[in-house]
Amino acid sequence: MSGPRITVVGSLNMDLVFRTPRMPLAGETISGHAFRQIPGGKGANQAVAAARLGGAVTMLGRVGDDAFGRQLRDCLLADGIDASQVLAQAGMASGVAGILVDDAGSNSIVVTPGANMALTLEDVEALAPTILASDLLVCQLETRLCAVMRAIEIAKRGGVKVVFNPAPMQPLRADWLALVDYLIVNETEASQLSEIAVVDRATARQAATKLLAMGAGSVLLTMGGQGVFVAGQGDNSRMLAAVPVEVVDTTAAGDTFVGAFSVGIGQGLGIVEAATAAQYAAALTVTKLGAQTSIPTRAEVEQFIASRAARAPVEAA
Ligand code: RIB
Repeated sequence: MSGPRITVVGSLNMDLVFRTPRMPLAGETISGHAFRQIPGGKGANQAVAAARLGGAVTMLGRVGDDAFGRQLRDCLLADGIDASQVLAQAGMASGVAGILVDDAGSNSIVVTPGANMALTLEDVEALAPTILASDLLVCQLETRLCAVMRAIEIAKRGGVKVVFNPAPMQPLRADWLALVDYLIVNETEASQLSEIAVVDRATARQAATKLLAMGAGSVLLTMGGQGVFVAGQGDNSRMLAAVPVEVVDTTAAGDTFVGAFSVGIGQGLGIVEAATAAQYAAALTVTKLGAQTSIPTRAEVEQFIASRAARAPVEAA
């Protein structure tokens, strides 16, 4: 493996995806278009994105001792990811996500975490040498908070850059943000963390400014069709416009952004350049159904950027 060394601590889920004309109402039964079983989980998706974009990726996580667990691990291996620390947890089921995707490309997701919650603080401590040999650590919150925070503490103490995507949000101690070099949040997560309702560029700026003041090194606030607000220490914030595409399914767009951004930073790009490249990768993801089935390769992203070269997505703040 070559490219920036990236360790991902996080979740693996088998996604059970139902294509449906619209979201059913409470108590209603409707007919769907199609069903597919697709590998996912925020941690695994971010690992796959980083690997397909050129990172040398190691993943730490837990799956169940079941068929889904074997498939999830095999999918990481197929992308060249070191999955030797994705262990099967005896007596537990793998994480599963039930996902409804409607004709507008919107989704609703229910996750039963299963073995993801078996990842312990001790598991993370055993991986400390791998974390410390990395260029970046990437974490989310679909595993136990204490394990994620331990990984972040190890990385920070060893001078390894931390990319943190606190999704799904859990209550966090504010002082932990000081351990995070790159905080990647959507509007909901930014609103919860900053206690400022993020609805537009102005409120994104306010929230990002507060998150920086709370200690985050840089803030990347992803806003779907509105684009990404990028803010670093000092007065260098920018709104990057979204890359327009035909939306099929937004699942894993955020994860692709996280993985692609991490590779860009690991390759020495600045935050605006890394976020711009990550936006193109995330845009491609929404043009296809599913999580890991939709994450593009580096060649696909480069071809896409070349095809859109005339439409630069960077705008002044
Ligand atoms: O971010 C998308 C992911 O969230 C899905 O793959 C699903 O597994 C849930 O974890």
